[in-house]
Amino acid sequence: MNITIVAGARPNFVKIAPIIKSIEKANLNGIDINYRLVHTGQHYDKIMSESFFNQLEIPEPNVNLECGGGSQAEQTAAIMTKFEKELLNNRPNIVLVVGDVNSTMACTITAKKLCIDVVHVEAGIRSGDMSMPEEINRIVTDAISDHYFTTSEYANENLIDQRVNSEKIHFVGNTMIDSLYENLSKIKRPLFLDNDEIKIKKYFLLTLHRPSNVDDIEKLNKIISSILDFSRDFPIIFPVHPRTKKNLDLLNITSNKLNVIEPQGYLEFLYLIKNSKGIITDSGGITEEATVLNVPCLTLRNTTERPETVVIGTNELIGDNYLLLGKSIEKIIDDNWKKGNIPKHWDGKTSERIVSKLCSLYNCFI
Ligand code: UD1
Repeated sequence: MNITIVAGARPNFVKIAPIIKSIEKANLNGIDINYRLVHTGQHYDKIMSESFFNQLEIPEPNVNLECGGGSQAEQTAAIMTKFEKELLNNRPNIVLVVGDVNSTMACTITAKKLCIDVVHVEAGIRSGDMSMPEEINRIVTDAISDHYFTTSEYANENLIDQRVNSEKIHFVGNTMIDSLYENLSKIKRPLFLDNDEIKIKKYFLLTLHRPSNVDDIEKLNKIISSILDFSRDFPIIFPVHPRTKKNLDLLNITSNKLNVIEPQGYLEFLYLIKNSKGIITDSGGITEEATVLNVPCLTLRNTTERPETVVIGTNELIGDNYLLLGKSIEKIIDDNWKKGNIPKHWDGKTSERIVSKLCSLYNCFI
């Protein structure tokens, strides 16, 4: 069986790495399963892409479609146009997509229109917030996929509500957490910390990249100044996404506590999560990693597509409530935060379950 695996943006790389390892292992064991890796080029900076491939030991992509930048429509259209040619030249039995980025949706539509089966890893998650491009990507991808690999009971229920046949829903767990467990022993202290006063569990980690938080310069300013106001003498480490950098540069914030740094490699970022006092973020994936590492996490959004990180894990939704943000930061500093548990099937074996299920669904046992 031939699978085309699609990856385009940073979180995709973390999700595909363990799936590729499991496919290679199955192949070595004589199972008829091969893959071709397509990088759409949605993320293209060395630090956003190449360093993830190196650290996660992902093989060179067979092809890079080089579709970075552009508006939502331009990016989606460019990926579809180039991916169609790729599929016509190298037709697989199935296309495997992960997550909810533009590449996920664009490649799903393209494959289905060529009558190729699509399997979606991390299917079924929903925030209910239609202003997020990711929510549209999730709904469209899940409307036309053939098999759904899910991370939570919530995701299963969402798919059932969408009238997906339950036989096509496979609750396998979280491949991002496979990568986390695989790499925990390899995490790296970032170089910028070497000659610094920043100590383990004595800093907050901040990440912001959602258009709703960073594209409006006033809002970005309010978020950062509130965090600086409430975090007492705790330094803030802020690896800045390229999208956020444009407005942050204009703000010209000067504070000794704010450590603005480049986006980090995967192993350095895991180090920063694991050793932080708490995390303030608008990412989804980071709330999952924080949950597994039992690190307090504040999400600067009104909704989450990952409710298990709040109900079971260490995450809380803060939205735009700056008073709640302040109180929550103080609770974390005072060691008064809830202790989380680890959601079902987030055990490091999700990719094995996915590959074994694919083999039985598509008869690749020899
Ligand atoms: C994308 C995903 C988001 C995911 C995030 C992780 C969509 C709709 N959004 O958002 O779900 O959480 O990735 O990072 O797919 N840029 C660079 N260098 C890069 C990558 C991007 O300069 O390597 C610039 C782009 O040119 C663009 C901006 O950053 O101007 C945003 O990039 P884009 O891929 O459109 O969306 P993200 O905000 O990264």
